Amino acid sequence: MTQTMTFALNRSVSPVSEADRAQVLADPGFGRVFTDHMVTITWTKELGWHDAQVRARAPFQIDPACAVLHYAQEIFEGMKAYRTESDDGAKGLALFRPYENAARFNSSAERMAMPTLPEADFVAAVEALVEIDKEWIPQGEGSLYLRPFMFADEAFLGVRPAHKYIFCVIASPVGAYFKGGAKPVKVWVSSDYTRAAQGGTGAAKCGGNYAASLIAQAEASRQDCDQVLFLDAAEHKWIEELGGMNIFFVLDDGSLMTPPLGTILPGITRKSIMQLARDEGITVTERKYSFDEFEADARSGRVREVFVCGTAAVIASVGEMRHAGGAFAIGNGETGALTESLRNRLVGLQKGKGSDPHGWRHTLG
Ligand code: PLP
Ligand code: COI
Repeated sequence: MTQTMTFALNRSVSPVSEADRAQVLADPGFGRVFTDHMVTITWTKELGWHDAQVRARAPFQIDPACAVLHYAQEIFEGMKAYRTESDDGAKGLALFRPYENAARFNSSAERMAMPTLPEADFVAAVEALVEIDKEWIPQGEGSLYLRPFMFADEAFLGVRPAHKYIFCVIASPVGAYFKGGAKPVKVWVSSDYTRAAQGGTGAAKCGGNYAASLIAQAEASRQDCDQVLFLDAAEHKWIEELGGMNIFFVLDDGSLMTPPLGTILPGITRKSIMQLARDEGITVTERKYSFDEFEADARSGRVREVFVCGTAAVIASVGEMRHAGGAFAIGNGETGALTESLRNRLVGLQKGKGSDPHGWRHTLG
């Protein structure tokens, strides 16, 4: 076993009462409420990673000149802890492919000129938080959303990589990401804004990407849409991804198609869906797909289903697309059969049901 950091434990002296927690867990929403603890680890140029702690969740004290407030040197991850029940009824807790998050965190760190954290320490930090706050994992449909992140914490206004960083993990009990629950979502296509360019930070999970997407997301909301779809920056033609999700198309020959990696976030749900589909003998292609071709294919029936996917959203079917020039439905606007079966297989795997041939379920405790 890999030797990991030791986390000093400083329990909260004022945890939320059991009754208040039960009330929150009955309808947690998404990202509104947080557990009693957090994990922090500090990195300095002199000492490297040190001072790993599991401690009471509390605000940070940062200097007004703190680098992250000025130059946005910040990255994050999104993952979940689940209550599991196996086919034979045994109950437990699990993460889903946490080493994938650890690896992506480090590639985001490299892109943003930040220090990397050994993958085993990243996973140990997440495990330590789930262990102390496991009572916060909702029963039933919900899960505990985990947010590891790192930011530059040096008071210095010169533009260069900071010499001090804080790594932190917080946790939030969550239900469905979309307010409509399992209802198919509506997606707005942005014609004015793009998310990422070649050579930019599209493949990194850095806060700045999300800040830049908010104006387009607000436009989507004004158009009564749930999410925004971005096209490529160079030609404004090729489908990339949504503000917080990857996208898949189900074609009339039963195959799946998704945009290639490069300027998009390499989603762990995306990667898992591709594998699950291939396991079922479904052809999966990664190829550039123009929005015009997609619209024609949706209208002709060549595209049967469209779904979006991510840790927060899981798999959500797309019922309608809207853009400045009009709107069109996908199929009959309802969730399609392949979307439904992939969702059931993925959620089952995450929650302990069905075989786990690739060893993705990371059981805890
Ligand atoms: N694309 C973006 C921009 C995201 O924010 C996310 C969510 O994390 C995803 C895709 C999906 O990634 P994952 O499946 O790893 O959660
Ligand atoms: C996630 O799915 O974990 C994300 O970070 C995306 C965001 C929409 C919450």
